[in-house]
Amino acid sequence: VFDRIDHVGIAVEEIESALELWRDGCQLDVAHREIVREQGVEAVLLDVGENHIELLAPLAPDTPVGKFLAKRGPGLHHIAYQVADIDAALAALADAGLPLIDKQPRAGIGGSRVAFLEPKGTGRVLTEIVEPAKASH
Ligand code: CO
Repeated sequence: VFDRIDHVGIAVEEIESALELWRDGCQLDVAHREIVREQGVEAVLLDVGENHIELLAPLAPDTPVGKFLAKRGPGLHHIAYQVADIDAALAALADAGLPLIDKQPRAGIGGSRVAFLEPKGTGRVLTEIVEPAKASH
């Protein structure tokens, strides 16, 4: 059900210093930047060819990314796969017995729809599926 890797999520303490590394040092273009209050995160997508890396900085310590940083420190956070139809993909994964964090898609950045799978079902790799916003593709 996965078409390709959409992005690799990286947890960072703070966006501006992360941008100095990834935008300025590695010379990647910023494709999108958004504060997602309901997820307690500021996210920046940078282009890597047709794929992306996604920098995630917590808005507060008691958010999912804030707790991740407290426990594990900055670094790789999740891998996101692009799917054409997220409702069909979730149904197929559930049928295959994979445990889901999100039984229904939620709003992602840039008008996308996203859902996360339980890491215990995916070899302890937090896995996201993304249906891109229709207008951007
Ligand atoms: Co992501």
